[in-house]
Amino acid sequence: MSRDLTLRSLLSGSALPPSEARLLMSHVLEQRYQLPRSALLSRDEMALSREAIFQWQELQSKRLAGEPIAYLIGKRGFHNIELEVAPGVLIPRPETELLVEIGLREIQRIEQEVVGVQVLDLGTGSGAIALAIAHAAPNVMVRATDQSSEALVIAKGNAQNLGLQSRVQFTQGNWYEALIDKTPFDVILSNPPYIASQDPHLGQGDLRFEPISALTDHGNGLSCIEDIVQGALAHLKPMGLIAVEHGFDQSDPVVSLMKTAGFCDIQIHQDLAGHNRVVSARK
Ligand SMILES: C[S@@+](CC[C@H](N)C(=O)[O-])C[C@H]1O[C@@H](n2cnc3c(N)ncnc32)[C@H](O)[C@@H]1O
Repeated sequence: MSRDLTLRSLLSGSALPPSEARLLMSHVLEQRYQLPRSALLSRDEMALSREAIFQWQELQSKRLAGEPIAYLIGKRGFHNIELEVAPGVLIPRPETELLVEIGLREIQRIEQEVVGVQVLDLGTGSGAIALAIAHAAPNVMVRATDQSSEALVIAKGNAQNLGLQSRVQFTQGNWYEALIDKTPFDVILSNPPYIASQDPHLGQGDLRFEPISALTDHGNGLSCIEDIVQGALAHLKPMGLIAVEHGFDQSDPVVSLMKTAGFCDIQIHQDLAGHNRVVSARK
């Protein structure tokens, strides 16, 4: 292997889309040389070491085999924070930022009258929703649950990295069973597994590499949402808000679930792509 392969020649010879090649190369530069992303331009004549070239080629092959960029570089930006991610957790999606925004709007409204707003994030994964909320709303207390111990290890690490461990408490278990006391919440947020088990998307793209229990309910896609909606009344304060993310074609059944459970002020929210993505409602 030649030692005088330059950054520029490695990038231009890559079979990856240029944006992906740059992301992976800046990860190599950061890890091997503690260089910032701007070095891709300012140091493009730099010759990489044998080890750095080996790492680059390995990352490149894994990406060409379909592995998600976020797992390869071990991180993903979400809302205003950066999260560590690994194959034990779902890679946070931009559309889930809508759920965070709905939660923050409600927190802002309640904080005009109440101090110490209590928020619950069910199925926290990497901690994305819980930590984005705690980061943006410095006076709230957040409870975050997941049934996956692997996810909770990653989520707790993220809370530590962001200095949010004193305001976000993580517990393990099946939805509300993970809660250790009966204190009601002002806001319940959840992005549960909502892909139907027969959906062909499960065998495509990044989803092939993500934990199956984070993606599907192993049924028609609605059973986790149903459990969460049905349990919410018992865990919300009067007028408390629940907001649940769902698939682009699931808003009608989710609205029906909310109505049947007895919620009021039911609203459908659209993501930036214009898809119905979240249903919110009040107790
Ligand atoms: C779609 S992922 C969402 C992760 C994270 N909230 C996000 O938006 O990036 C769903 C999460 O729900 C968790 N989960 C699945 N079934 C559960 C259950 N019965 N009780 C608690 N958590 C569950 C999974 O482990 C996974 O972390």
